[in-house]
Amino acid sequence: MSVGSILILPGDGIGPEAMAEVRRIIDWYGDKRGLAFDVSEDLVGGAAYDAHGTPLTDAAMDKAQSVDAVLFGAVGGPKYDTLDFSVKPERGLLRLRKEMDLFANLRPAQCFDALADFSSLKRDVVAGLDIMIVRELTSGIYYGEPRGIFEENGERVGINTQRYTESEIARVARSAFELARKRAGKVCSMDKANVMESGILWREVVQTVHDEEYPDIELSHMYADAGGMQLTRWPKQFDVIVTDNLFGDLLSDVAAMLTGSLGMLPSASLGAPMANGRPKALYEPVHGSAPDIAGQGKANPIATILSFAMALRYSFDLGDEADRLEKAVEKVLADGVRTADLLNEEGKMPATTSQMGDAILAALDASL
Ligand code: IPM
Ligand code: MG
Repeated sequence: MSVGSILILPGDGIGPEAMAEVRRIIDWYGDKRGLAFDVSEDLVGGAAYDAHGTPLTDAAMDKAQSVDAVLFGAVGGPKYDTLDFSVKPERGLLRLRKEMDLFANLRPAQCFDALADFSSLKRDVVAGLDIMIVRELTSGIYYGEPRGIFEENGERVGINTQRYTESEIARVARSAFELARKRAGKVCSMDKANVMESGILWREVVQTVHDEEYPDIELSHMYADAGGMQLTRWPKQFDVIVTDNLFGDLLSDVAAMLTGSLGMLPSASLGAPMANGRPKALYEPVHGSAPDIAGQGKANPIATILSFAMALRYSFDLGDEADRLEKAVEKVLADGVRTADLLNEEGKMPATTSQMGDAILAALDASL
């Protein structure tokens, strides 16, 4: 019997090569753990535009709505930079997030011990780091109306709107508090309540949800600019950070770099539970399509592989198997296997994308 259904959307750039390694790992779970998944694949981003003239077809959107988990690679590339905004590769991803209503984006930043010297920060600042950024993903300035480029008084004006309703803030705050209960019990909410009304509302609602439903959690508030500074000064002060769509985009890239490489960080985007009790879910690496290294076997597949580990944990309730996969990655790094992004010593040959996959599969075998 199938454990559940997965739609793979490899996308552009290094997306397909990273996803090829995930497919091998999915097969491993079927062969060696008796956990067979019902896997299908479709196009997204520039690849979908090339084939269909749209970054996401309605058919692919429908499929995404009907599966237990979507595994997403990456989208975009210089070839598509001049396309009209409405058909840019990124619109495919933004449509998935919006129509699946994936309001809670979980972006863990964990520093693997073997990589602590790789961060741009000192080892003692990042070693053992384990924080979770919860980014609101379906509202705020990414989607607010009015938006556009308009004519006004003989010149053009670009407009975007930051907009949050109380219920949108409350639901992502709950996600953060729930996660904190399973972690170190601390949430720091980041906003710009000093200059934005939407920030004032954000702060009030997060505080109210806390006081009424999660008094056991330690809640603090920080302005998002100071939050960025504190993330680079002493990141271990944080457990869970909850913030809006745009601040979360920025702060999660900052947090990613603490861990040494963007090539390491997975994410889960979760929505409300479906009829079968599983949440609507899409899993994707935090990094982008890296067109400069695409197709050369240089990509680090770990962020995409760890995104599948998050799928095991959050969609399929297979926390032990997620642990197994995460430990396999940790072992491979401890053994010194490095893709090019994780290497700064001259003269050492980096592992290719598929050699990294081989090493992780061998570590999985060894875990049995
Ligand atoms: C991310 C990316 C996306 C975003 C882009 C590709 C639209 O930067 O997931 O962080 O801005 O949300
Ligand atoms: Mg980003």
